[in-house]
Amino acid sequence: MNSRIKKVLAVVLSVMMLFGSFAMGASADEVKRISCTMVEDGSSGRGFSWYTYEDGASDLQIVKTEEFDGTFKNAKLYEGSTAKFRQQYVHKVYVNDLEAGTSYTYRVGDAEKDLWGETCSVITDDGDDSFSFITIADVQASSDENFAQASLTLKGALEVAPEAEFIATLGDYVNDNTNDEWDWYFKNFAFANNYYTHVPVAGNHDGNITNKFNTNCFKNMFALDESDNQSLEGVYYSFDYGNAHIAVLNTNDIYPMSQAQRNWLINDMKQSDATWKIILMHRALYSAGKHFNKPDTIMMRNILLPLFDELNIDMVYAGHDHMYLRTTQVYGDAAVEGTTYIEEIIDGKTTKIAVDPEGTVYVLPATAGTKRYNLNDDATNPALDVADKAFSTSDWGGCFCVTEIEGGKLVYKAYLVDDETQKIELIDTYAIMKTEGNTSEESNLDESFMASVMNYPANLFKAIMEMLVSYFKMLFDLIAG
Ligand SMILES: [Fe+2]
Repeated sequence: MNSRIKKVLAVVLSVMMLFGSFAMGASADEVKRISCTMVEDGSSGRGFSWYTYEDGASDLQIVKTEEFDGTFKNAKLYEGSTAKFRQQYVHKVYVNDLEAGTSYTYRVGDAEKDLWGETCSVITDDGDDSFSFITIADVQASSDENFAQASLTLKGALEVAPEAEFIATLGDYVNDNTNDEWDWYFKNFAFANNYYTHVPVAGNHDGNITNKFNTNCFKNMFALDESDNQSLEGVYYSFDYGNAHIAVLNTNDIYPMSQAQRNWLINDMKQSDATWKIILMHRALYSAGKHFNKPDTIMMRNILLPLFDELNIDMVYAGHDHMYLRTTQVYGDAAVEGTTYIEEIIDGKTTKIAVDPEGTVYVLPATAGTKRYNLNDDATNPALDVADKAFSTSDWGGCFCVTEIEGGKLVYKAYLVDDETQKIELIDTYAIMKTEGNTSEESNLDESFMASVMNYPANLFKAIMEMLVSYFKMLFDLIAG
């Protein structure tokens, strides 16, 4: 064989090997998009979910971390379900017999194929009245780089509060809800999702008929409540954690809140005698960004404010408007007058502590991502009337908040992570104290209130009319302006 033919053969073989290895790489399956989510009871239940490219079993191997020898030989095996979603396979396993206050090490995958994801861990609630959690909002990125930038916000949060027991994300994980965006999200946030319990909230960009008719996404992305509370556009659910009862609302639910969900919330909160009643949701009732007076915001405010008042909700965390806002105590769509405050220095910051206050505090922790809104010049009432702090975080950094609960005391802290330097700055603090005998307020839903809530057709008609009036007003302003 002459040298020229040898060279040609070598080139052909190299090309074949190259394509062969690409083909092998492309066909090799992998476990990705791993998350461990809260279900019903923080001390015993968790949902596990992940994705693969190929069909297969849904297996979880889990072992107490103190018994983990690096091999999973001693692990307990749980089997779950597999479903096809958008050309890939979503796997879910639910576990409800974990021991309280225990660290577990686990991996998810397919035992028969010996295909496994990374080794992860999670700690269950020990049930005492002392815990903290992190909240971020609206990562809403559409490139790998922007997800990476947003992840620095959560990295900052875990530096400040590594002992946090769960991380709530207030919706709008992604911008266009593509497979690439979800892959980028899970890749860049694996440092947190693989080691902390996640509490997901559905946002309007996460799969919604008002956003490119891209439905069924949220319930296929996380292992959440498997009851009827799942809709095409999101999931609502609740769980107990320590001395708190936390309800996660789906503000995409029949644009924006179905009567079924409201009835569920009433029953859910009424059944709980927890000291702290907390709501996590996406669309904020009070904001001063571009959404401050959009029809859906008005509709939500009209529908939910009376409900939160009656249910004695302490804190409401929401996103959607990408600016920072924290209200004072609010009741009846107005700042509560006559609240007793004491002051305490917390982390070097003079902090107002509301003592046995009436009403609810509404928090909008700007955005963990890079898409930030300026203050809306038109934003006045009611948002700014009840706001204690309201500002834009544009050209500054990603925002996160940490909530610490210690018995009858709740301390709320908000931070910004500087875009350039990653320097973390405490930007806001607030606290609520419930004194002895006032730690478990009875919900006083009277019959007339229940009757008004049950009067759904009239309420819905009123809300739709108000929404239409708002739209016409906006159109008129646009034409006139
Ligand atoms: Fe949103």
